[in-house]
Amino acid sequence: MSACAPTDIARAVASVALWYHTIALPDGTATPGWFDLRPIVERMPFPDVRGTRCLDVGTYDGFLAFELERRGAREVVATDVSDHRDWDWPARMRERGPAALAQIAGRKGRGFDAARELLGSSVRKLELSAYDLSPEVVGTFDVVVCGSLLLHLREPIRALEAIRSVCDGWFLSAEQVELGLSLRHPRTPVSRLNAEAELCQWWLPNVAAHRQMLVTAGFRVQRATRPYAIPFGVAHPSVAPRILRRLAAGGQGVPHCAALARPDPS
Ligand SMILES: C[S@@+](CC[C@H](N)C(=O)[O-])C[C@H]1O[C@@H](n2cnc3c(N)ncnc32)[C@H](O)[C@@H]1O
Repeated sequence: MSACAPTDIARAVASVALWYHTIALPDGTATPGWFDLRPIVERMPFPDVRGTRCLDVGTYDGFLAFELERRGAREVVATDVSDHRDWDWPARMRERGPAALAQIAGRKGRGFDAARELLGSSVRKLELSAYDLSPEVVGTFDVVVCGSLLLHLREPIRALEAIRSVCDGWFLSAEQVELGLSLRHPRTPVSRLNAEAELCQWWLPNVAAHRQMLVTAGFRVQRATRPYAIPFGVAHPSVAPRILRRLAAGGQGVPHCAALARPDPS
């Protein structure tokens, strides 16, 4: 646990231009995040991670990585790309998107570094695209988690295959889903290609498609949740520029579902 005085904690929190995650801090405060996973984290089907080597893919400020550590993982590695330019921007946003984000969010990874220090965490961060995960580069993991990333990738199945290559035990995948498509097509995998380039979003699956993506990439799904909404945090950008508002989507929260899977040996 951090030995920081409350004023130091407040100063460190304020030094981060944009907090994506709401993270509880040792002085009883929390980072002013866009999204607050705390109310839904117990709904996610975590395996027992005690004593295990864990990976969090696309960590942002690190909420899920710190959660793995809190649950008793022996070692936690968190990965993310090093720069907003490394996102899979659609062609017409490739210049504007990263520039707008850099202006508002500052240096990528600053929130993770600050949270790690404030929490006294031992999570190790690697700047590495999900596409580039391989046993040669990072070794293998007993537990891999990945949250709210696939919709931002042009090639989500390729990323899932890379995740599969480093997953020895459990894979917890929690992704945004399309509720309307899930209700209309409860059993048929259907994804919507999101034409809004500003969102840097690609495929929005229904629940069945999320499951099928895992199966297609070589996983066997063992447990799955019903859809749940990730609530917005206090800093949800209702007064922020348009691109950020659109990135955050609307409503009371963002619909997700989670599945716990194992690599399929066949
Ligand atoms: C919507 S946030 C999700 C944060 C966190 N995983 C969660 O569940 O709340 C997506 C994260 O994925 C990262 N990201 C984008 N493209 C990536 C890639 N190719 N490989 C790894 N991470 C990537 C972004 O930088 C961002 O930190």
